[in-house]
Amino acid sequence: MPAPPRLRDLPLDDRPRALGLTDAQIAALRAGLTPAQADRMIENAIGVFGLPLGVAQHFVVNGRAIAGIPMVIEEASVVAACSYAAKLARASGGFTAGSSAPIMIGQVQLLDVPDIEAARARINAEADALIGWLNDDHPTTRSRHVHALGLETRVLTGDPPMLVVHLLYDCGDAMGANAINTACEALAPRLAALAGGRANLRILSNLSDRRMAWATCTIRADLLATRTDAALPPEAIAQRIVEASLFAERDPYRAATHNKGIMNGIDAVVIATGNDWRAVEAAAHAYAARDGCYTALATWRMDAAGNLVGRIELPLAVGIVGGATRVHPVAQVGLALLGVKTARELAEVIACVGLAQNFAAIRALAMEGIQQGHMALHARQLAIAAGAHGEMVERIAAQLVAEGNVRLERAQELLSQAPLPPA
Ligand code: MEV
Repeated sequence: MPAPPRLRDLPLDDRPRALGLTDAQIAALRAGLTPAQADRMIENAIGVFGLPLGVAQHFVVNGRAIAGIPMVIEEASVVAACSYAAKLARASGGFTAGSSAPIMIGQVQLLDVPDIEAARARINAEADALIGWLNDDHPTTRSRHVHALGLETRVLTGDPPMLVVHLLYDCGDAMGANAINTACEALAPRLAALAGGRANLRILSNLSDRRMAWATCTIRADLLATRTDAALPPEAIAQRIVEASLFAERDPYRAATHNKGIMNGIDAVVIATGNDWRAVEAAAHAYAARDGCYTALATWRMDAAGNLVGRIELPLAVGIVGGATRVHPVAQVGLALLGVKTARELAEVIACVGLAQNFAAIRALAMEGIQQGHMALHARQLAIAAGAHGEMVERIAAQLVAEGNVRLERAQELLSQAPLPPA
């Protein structure tokens, strides 16, 4: 598969066109979210807060090359690291990803239930009728796009005991929070009556473990070395990456950082597509702790040929319709770039981004460390802050790194000594 042109070699203004965006999409990108639009989204709006929107390249997911992965993030290196990992994975055919049906859980908490087991039996016996009522008869929960699937009951022992009813909801292409919350509120009085008790909370669960996405990829061992670590045999580099994975799998202190790196990639795409990143974060970390010990969301092993095989699996409640995905003009551009047709497809791509991000982070950590790359980017930022333009940015940044003196004052000094670039 031929590699696309490198965006970073193009001037900022030429990049959207190189990605195939239309005039209207480019105009939307440039205008961003306006204060008037923000005012319709939240209360007491006083403006909008900008963050960089970058594009990761080289992703191939289930055989489809993606023009660009939109990523909203303030941290340097993340977009470059993601593209680098995707490029290596592309040499082995890219990522293979999958997802479950987009099923979310809504919870209704029932208290003061005189006989919990009898209440449970009555609710289970009525489940089909209640689901039919939500889907076909209730004026606010009837919908062409989402539908209730079933009820499950759980008993929480303790004082007071609780009967919790889970409403399983197929959210289609929506994230679905509104639909589920509406359905839970509609259902609660009927559940309370059946239980002979009182309904308290009626809200979705952010542990969306019925709405999973997963991805795998293979990274050829011979591609693992960079110029700086070419002296090490590929299998030794692969071994270090497996050791990094095992560390995170066994230790919650390391797992939290390992997963933070994964979320660097995941959140960036979730935000760029107008989705609720707090929901995705909550789900990811709750899932990482599902067995009682917080662990890694992505793991790496060597296959028989010595290549690295990575796998990620996590709940990903994202949508492509409704909410900010619909009203945020730049989120619409992000979705168009991704070319995804369903919410499931979006979740699958996001899982791949998480896996790519994790690979790039632990490869760097197991080899040169992450500060080297960070310093190079930091040096460019300082050169720009000092007033450098054009090729002078790279020259001053390279000098700062070579001197090991990555400071603004030194960048200013170098700029004042440098011959001016041609006008
Ligand atoms: C930094 O934002 C993310 C990393 O710490 C992730 C990791 O340690 O795996 C580099």
